[in-house]
Amino acid sequence: MKTKVLLFGSDGMLGHAVNNYFSVQPDTAVYTADRANADYSFDFLDDTAVKNCIESVKPDVIINCAAIVNVGLCESDKGAAYLINARFVHILASLCQLYGIYFIHISTDHYYSGDTIKKHTEEDKVELLNEYARTKYCGEQFALVNPDALVVRTNIVGFRGRENAPTFIEWAIGTILSKQRMNLFTDFYTSSIHTVQIAKILYDFAKIKPHGLYNIASADVSSKKEFILKLSEQLFGFYPPYIDASVNTLDCKRADSLGLCVTKAEALLGYKMPGLEEVIFSIKKEYEKIK
Ligand SMILES: NC(=O)c1ccc[n+]([C@@H]2O[C@H](COP(=O)([O-])OP(=O)(O)OC[C@H]3O[C@@H](n4cnc5c(N)ncnc54)[C@H](OP(=O)(O)O)[C@@H]3O)[C@@H](O)[C@H]2O)c1
Repeated sequence: MKTKVLLFGSDGMLGHAVNNYFSVQPDTAVYTADRANADYSFDFLDDTAVKNCIESVKPDVIINCAAIVNVGLCESDKGAAYLINARFVHILASLCQLYGIYFIHISTDHYYSGDTIKKHTEEDKVELLNEYARTKYCGEQFALVNPDALVVRTNIVGFRGRENAPTFIEWAIGTILSKQRMNLFTDFYTSSIHTVQIAKILYDFAKIKPHGLYNIASADVSSKKEFILKLSEQLFGFYPPYIDASVNTLDCKRADSLGLCVTKAEALLGYKMPGLEEVIFSIKKEYEKIK
């Protein structure tokens, strides 16, 4: 019998990659849910519709990739951010507990500041600097009310294919190709992993079904400047025109030292998380396929 996976947020950047990977696994059947372009298209703030969807699919596993990820939008509509990034997570976690469904909730790394390339463990102290961080952290706590739930802290990069709303990578590639000068942050650090890579890792997690908090990310921490220059060099063989810039110039205060320590995930899985070179190579592979 195939494992039934119900994927919330399937039309988003990560949702696409998870759907693509899981749906070609012979032992898995994926059911998608999002506001649009999904098997179940509805607003997740409708609790009854969420319950009906779960009762109709009867999944073995639920993965939640839905969120408001735009930091500015979370500031300007704090209520909307709370409802999807936190309250909805509790609705899912409770229904999973009620029906014995394994719950995987995707969280963020937007919790650490002022320590540059430090790799933060799952136990490190968090700092909540904006509404995105507050609502995502609240979502983690709500997910963990279900003792069997898995919460994944990560930093993801990838493609989504919505022309009017480019992802970070889509924006970076578009700007590199336009030869416009880029402002590259020298003081903003992440351990970004490609969505295609984390999709495979989530599949492996779903087999083992661990509970609690896990970081899943690249094994390397890099500044956004280093990341984009490497991306440009590997994809196009040149560096774009750029000036050094600071993340502190953005209107809303952001966490700046987002590196994650991945040894707990590596010990569970028995293999290493990808380094920066492998992440860029994986992005290049997907770019060549879809360009
Ligand atoms: N992107 C990053 O840089 C990043 C970094 C670290 C962690 N993460 C985490 O990774 C996860 C996935 O992020 P992502 O970048 O894939 O996000 P995304 O591309 O914005 O996808 C989120 C999806 O959720 C849907 N959604 C949101 N509110 C909904 C609602 N009320 N009803 C139905 N659908 C709704 C969105 O639909 P609409 O677009 O129509 O609203 C969208 O398709 C999130 O938990 C995020 O916090 C992301």
